[in-house]
Amino acid sequence: MSRLNLLEETRFEKLAVKVFVNQLEASKVVARRIADIIVKKQKAGEKAVLGLATGVTPINVYKELIRLHKEEGLSFKNVVTFNLDEYYPMKADAVQSYVTFMNENLFDHIDIDRANIHIPDGTLLREDIEAFCLAYEQKISTYDGLDIQLLGIGRTGHIGFNEPGSAPNSGTRLVTLDDLTRRDASRDFGGKANVPTKAITMGIGTIFKAKEIILMAWNAKKASIVKKAVEGEISSEVPATYLQLSDHVEFVLDEDAASELTRFNTPWLVKDCYWDENLIKKAVIWLAKTVNKPILKLTEEDYNTHGMAQLATEQGPVYNININIFNKIQHTITGWPGGKPNADDSQRPERSQPNKKRSVIFSPHPDDDVISMGGTFIRLADQGHEVHVAYQTSGNTAVWDDDALRYVEFSIDLAKSEGRDTTEQESLYMQMRSFFQSKLPNQADTKAIQTIKGLIRKGEAIAGARFAGLPDNNIHFQNLPFYDRLKTQKAVSYEDDIVQTMALLNTVKPHQVFAAGDFADPHGTHKVCFNIVYQALIRLKATEDWVKDCWLWLYRGAWHEFEIHEIEMAVPLSPEEVKRKRLAIFKHQSQKDMPVFPGDDAREFWVRAEERTCETAKAYDGLGLANYEAIEAFKRWEF
Ligand code: F6R
Repeated sequence: MSRLNLLEETRFEKLAVKVFVNQLEASKVVARRIADIIVKKQKAGEKAVLGLATGVTPINVYKELIRLHKEEGLSFKNVVTFNLDEYYPMKADAVQSYVTFMNENLFDHIDIDRANIHIPDGTLLREDIEAFCLAYEQKISTYDGLDIQLLGIGRTGHIGFNEPGSAPNSGTRLVTLDDLTRRDASRDFGGKANVPTKAITMGIGTIFKAKEIILMAWNAKKASIVKKAVEGEISSEVPATYLQLSDHVEFVLDEDAASELTRFNTPWLVKDCYWDENLIKKAVIWLAKTVNKPILKLTEEDYNTHGMAQLATEQGPVYNININIFNKIQHTITGWPGGKPNADDSQRPERSQPNKKRSVIFSPHPDDDVISMGGTFIRLADQGHEVHVAYQTSGNTAVWDDDALRYVEFSIDLAKSEGRDTTEQESLYMQMRSFFQSKLPNQADTKAIQTIKGLIRKGEAIAGARFAGLPDNNIHFQNLPFYDRLKTQKAVSYEDDIVQTMALLNTVKPHQVFAAGDFADPHGTHKVCFNIVYQALIRLKATEDWVKDCWLWLYRGAWHEFEIHEIEMAVPLSPEEVKRKRLAIFKHQSQKDMPVFPGDDAREFWVRAEERTCETAKAYDGLGLANYEAIEAFKRWEF
């Protein structure tokens, strides 16, 4: 064990962990630590030797270092760097190379001597790799080792590219990438098939020799692997657990990445708690799940033997706690997502007034509405509310090239059959064919192709929304500009997206807004889309009265669901409604069978949607509530 842990609260944590409110704060602190090393070494007339990582995690650390250089005069003249890894094979000037990454995110903006930069060479001949790796190790040693090593963590638990199975004494070497790692990288490469299968990486033994090691992780996506790395047993299955053997390692996390650590996820197991309503709900649901009993059957003994004695003593008898929580969950269930007309709504998730509401469903991609909340969508329309759907992006990235060709062929054939001139269409068609033939992985399509792909998805979305019962006038295509802009620019402004969203909201003046709230979606589009809606509502609130009476509901999509204790509105679906929802999803033909971006889940979207809603229904049943076929879940978001 690396260090003495004197705190009860962190007794499950086998290495040092610091948690920050967000990654920006954390990144500033890490950058400052690096800057302090550089300055200290400068004063001593020595070199500062930094071990650097790539990926999304360290980007803000590098931004802050650049700021310190530009605004506070931090010089990198005495800095030597060694990067952790590089794909193999990989040309240095390829967009996806770690050389390009480091140049763009750090080296091009500071005064480092280029001769002091070391990155594993992805262009070597196979037979030269071993000698190169040995020389890499030796070079680090000639500098007396790394002063500090920055690390991210992959979802496999890899550090550098030391995948599961790596040995603690491994050195710099050629490795094979794990399938999950390649899937995670597939977006950068325009499909997993284009991701190299190998990489050259520093070994765990190499990393260990650093005088300080900082592993950073942000985002809920990393929470479960972080828990394993921090609290799990040391095992080659999760290479980051080897870090528990070091006494100079620190994990720097944001609150989301730390959220599954025992002290945050089930704090009652490690400390006395302040028991507010939310914590009681979370703990009671956890207890029921842990002992596999419905809530109303939980006993004093269950509470006492599972770290909840404090709650039982402070607020017991436990049967009262059980009933209170059972009722709370019962009250989340409603078949009236737009409110039940003329009913007592004191215990219902939505207001009964006005009877007929105006609702806007924001759908980041053209199929998120039906995949994520298709049953509720259909119900709202069936129950006579004025429902609008706003498709935020065109979703054109996720259409296969041959589908685009097929549609153009169709339109040429149609024109020909009507005796119309097809010269222009045919020339576009030929241009498309030759573009696709030489298209590089991840290359953005031409404007014309983007339009065609967007139109394919538009047609599908109209079919889906009509099937759900909407009149055409209530179907809005926002085509938010950020989506295409992000394909060519790294830093984009969302101002026009927000203004456009404000205009739509101000026309409809909804009582309810539904928005995608899955902030851990693999491509980040959902989070951006949520931020745009949120910003638009906040700004409108300052001037428009209707906003004060508008509720924002979050739904989650194909990736993950709310935890049961988070759900504030649970809309049950009958077996028949599940089928109707499935048919609505089927209208999105271009996304069926095998979509372009499936994420790391082999199931089709409609299967994911059904299994997810069915799991929520099973969880409700397990807690002792009614046994439904499926449940769509929502959480209210204050703004
Ligand atoms: C990068 C590296 C990897 C990443 C890890 C996390 O040089 O070696 O271990 O740190 O895959 O990647 P991100 O930060 O993109 O989540």
